[in-house]
Amino acid sequence: MGSPPTKSPSTLGWKVEDSAHLYQVDSWGGGYFGANAAGHVVVRPNQQADREIDLLEIVEGLKARDLTAPVVIRFSDVIAHRLKTINDAFARAIAENDYQNRYSAVFPIKVNQQRLVVEEVYRAGAAFGFGLEVGSKPELLVVLSMTEDCSDRVIICNGFKDDSYIETVILAAKLGRLIIPVVENFAELDLILKHSKKYGVRPTMGVRVKLAAEGAGRWRDSAGDKSKFGLFITEILEVMDVLKQHDMLDCLKLVHCHTGSQLQDIRRVEEAVTELSHVYAELKLMGAGLEYIDIGGGLGVDYDGSRSNYESSMNYTINEYARDVVHRIASVCRARNIPHPQIISESGRAIAAHHSVLVFNVLGSSALDQFRVDSQLEADCRDDSNIPQPVTDLLDAYRSVSERRLVECWHDALRAREQALQMFNLGYLSLKFRGLAERLYWATCARIRDLVRRLDNVPEELEDLESILSDIYFCNFSVFQSLPDSWAIGQVFPIMPIHRLEERPTRNAVLADITCDSDGKIDHFASRRDTKRTLELHALKAGEDYYLAAFLVGAYQETLGDLHNLFGDTHVVHIRLLEEGGWWIEETVKGDTALQVLSYMEYDTDELYPRLARDCERAVREQRLTVAESQKLKRFYEAELQGYAYLEPDMEG
Ligand SMILES: Cc1ncc(COP(=O)(O)O)c(C=O)c1O
Repeated sequence: MGSPPTKSPSTLGWKVEDSAHLYQVDSWGGGYFGANAAGHVVVRPNQQADREIDLLEIVEGLKARDLTAPVVIRFSDVIAHRLKTINDAFARAIAENDYQNRYSAVFPIKVNQQRLVVEEVYRAGAAFGFGLEVGSKPELLVVLSMTEDCSDRVIICNGFKDDSYIETVILAAKLGRLIIPVVENFAELDLILKHSKKYGVRPTMGVRVKLAAEGAGRWRDSAGDKSKFGLFITEILEVMDVLKQHDMLDCLKLVHCHTGSQLQDIRRVEEAVTELSHVYAELKLMGAGLEYIDIGGGLGVDYDGSRSNYESSMNYTINEYARDVVHRIASVCRARNIPHPQIISESGRAIAAHHSVLVFNVLGSSALDQFRVDSQLEADCRDDSNIPQPVTDLLDAYRSVSERRLVECWHDALRAREQALQMFNLGYLSLKFRGLAERLYWATCARIRDLVRRLDNVPEELEDLESILSDIYFCNFSVFQSLPDSWAIGQVFPIMPIHRLEERPTRNAVLADITCDSDGKIDHFASRRDTKRTLELHALKAGEDYYLAAFLVGAYQETLGDLHNLFGDTHVVHIRLLEEGGWWIEETVKGDTALQVLSYMEYDTDELYPRLARDCERAVREQRLTVAESQKLKRFYEAELQGYAYLEPDMEG
């Protein structure tokens, strides 16, 4: 690899643009991804074609630094660009609606709590006065340490809060932070009253409203009557009474809602914002000191590029989102004759998803259409009078495949295979004939599939043939560690090869990871219509790496990932554009070693090696191992403890 592609039969009649179209890079890429003339995926961190980065070049550069795939590549400039895009969309909407206040995003750090990511978001958000959102005590601790000298950047505190959480928030307010605890229940209200009195602080606080407007999609239960969080309107009125009694109505500065993540339908956003605006207006007119309206997260990401209201997509743009939000709030405020509040959104996914790419290599593949029936085999079958009937039927089905008899032959093959299996289970079919039946069946399927590919209208019964016959590509990563939402909630991520795009992909495959778990696979892929069950890939070439990448993985995946089969964190690198042109590797975080992962699991890592060494010496004493063999095993063991859990190329060979 690395040398310019040579014209081979597979490149004839196929162009890089065909691959870009096939994998729909422009649809899901949001302007950040594309393909270059060499047939490699490129990343455009600020959407400018003259600053594009060749992804394969990065991967090869990392390999030269002993950072082999799988690796998460974070593009810091994409984060800055996302923040600017969201800010600009709201700035335009504010101008269009003559809105008399500002907008600010607060990044919910749970979306990707990695220090380097949060620091990047916070640093790049400074230009727009963007803040941070926390949902737990540890998150609060992180944010407090990062927000020194930033008294104008909002910190929103959500989630369950105990005494020490609230006490810390009140003290942080005294320290000078613009920090707003959002009350979810009366116990939290009592704690705010207690600690603000104790420390002589007039707190700035918010309430989370349980809206009647329900969310949609996977996270629809984040809102509505059954939602886990928030106060019913009747409870908010009680909060108002309590605050009034304490002469603290002016402290209620914010109303908040969160209707769910990945809102795919703009109507849900409109309904929720309208309802929240009316709640805001009513409370304001009742005397609350409201200044902020917080519409929560939910701004979607078009993972499958379909621009629809499928769960992995969204039927609106960031501009439409901003326009609708600002317009709805402005209309309600105008109608109720109240000042415009500062608008806050807790957009996480929309800020973080695009900036991370997971690159992994393919280790090998298995194919079901590999079984051939040559003329010798056919002749042998003809001459063998002992061939059982189902096997003869399968041979007939194989021979008679033609465009006119596709469905019929398919039925014949299915029936004959079933009969062959029944006979085998009753002891009437030998292993040899079962093997033959299997070979004939798959060869028949492959023949039918090849003809089906030429049809304009595929008979319904044969529609699944492509996926039935798909290859399995074994990939060097763990779905559970790196793409947990793919496994847990069927989230679709765009996946494609990062090179050979000038070549026609000739295989259809599903992906299997290297965990020993049959759930560790990906068999749904982004497509214009719904999802597709197989991904078009290139045939593997002996001795050549084949790299795939999963895109838009910057939100939720890294920290939700688990250690199934003890596959730990992958290597991570941060790539940044250089002002003078080009790019550099700004940060490198090496993936977990086996030793680190084992220590997470409470193994006494100091004892692992000595125990094996003792056992080796016993084996030497009892002459089961030679000294050389024992040394080899010990050296191997020691190196592997310090090594990457994923499969690594044999550096020597
Ligand atoms: C309260 C709250 N705010 C913000 C978010 C972030 O949502 P998203 O990443 O969809 O913008 C979440 C996530 O579900 C949340 O629970």
